Amino acid sequence: MMSIRITEVAARDGLQNEPRRVSTESKVAFIDQLSAAGPCEIEVTSFVSARWVPQLGDASDVLARITRRPGTVYSALVPNEQGLDRALECRLDKIAVFVSATESFSQRNTNGSIHEVLSRLAPVVARAREAGLIVRGYISCAIRCPFEGTVAPEAVRVLCARLIDLGVHEIDLGDTLGAADPDSIARLYEGISRTIDPGATTLHLHDTNGRALECALGAIELGVRSFDGSAGGLGGCPYAPGSPGNLATETLVRALDARGIDTGVDAQRLEAAGRWMRQQLTGDSAASS
Ligand code: HMG
Ligand code: MG
Repeated sequence: MMSIRITEVAARDGLQNEPRRVSTESKVAFIDQLSAAGPCEIEVTSFVSARWVPQLGDASDVLARITRRPGTVYSALVPNEQGLDRALECRLDKIAVFVSATESFSQRNTNGSIHEVLSRLAPVVARAREAGLIVRGYISCAIRCPFEGTVAPEAVRVLCARLIDLGVHEIDLGDTLGAADPDSIARLYEGISRTIDPGATTLHLHDTNGRALECALGAIELGVRSFDGSAGGLGGCPYAPGSPGNLATETLVRALDARGIDTGVDAQRLEAAGRWMRQQLTGDSAASS
């Protein structure tokens, strides 16, 4: 039976963009609900600057308080050595570094050029590896950039190579804007094929145009076996105008269940967790019914 690896990113990507502050206690309760639904990995939070993403300024407290499910990989986003210093004081299995496929997005999201960001990340990846952590390398705007438009697959391939040289274990291709369709996903994988196999990547889809599921199913045909999803479709990137929710994990899991593909995830539990968090965000008790 084919199995697909699911990384649940709602607690990080789903919450980072939410203007309404969620308490540490609610985040912990949410992550514990996500853990109980059984995804392979949970991206818990982010050690970015709290000036940039105030919602996730309590990263260390959240990690100190969650209940870890044996076998689940717990990770967090890290943008620089300062973030890594904070992360290393917590119990983590994995970190995720991130770089943008375009210069404009790199400036907006991380206040530096692509070259500067890769230079910042070199010691982060090296030190994380020394500490025994797995390292994911995200490439944002792998399909389209809000400022520069369509992104050439070759630009993504070059960044894959740079991240592999730095020592990341896994490449995560982010369709930050949710602009992909199955054809652009196929062109992306064709374009990066001489540097990395689809099976060594994770695909991170946003659902702006309602085509994320179609893209994921197409990517499976190409050999991709690992996807990010966000419970309840929560999410978006604060520095990418017009990027709404991520692909809802439960939507992906149900589509895979229907095809006899195993994820180990309980879609119903995950959906309930997403609904619960939406209720915290909107204060709408109807969201729980
Ligand atoms: P900067 O302002 O250039 O940083 O930001 P700096 O080094 O000049 O420091 C400025 C202040 O921030 C200083 O504080 C630092 O101490 C502090 P001050 O002395 O002024 O009080 N600082 C930090 N504090 C805590 N933790 C840190 C940290 N670093 C600096 N790690 C920086 C550069 C990269 C830090 C900033 O631009 C940043 O945090 N950016 C992250 C923005 C972000 O989180 N974006 C969303 C995530 S990426 C994404 O969503 C895409 C993805 O989902 C995939 C997809 O969808 O495609 C992954
Ligand atoms: Mg994202």
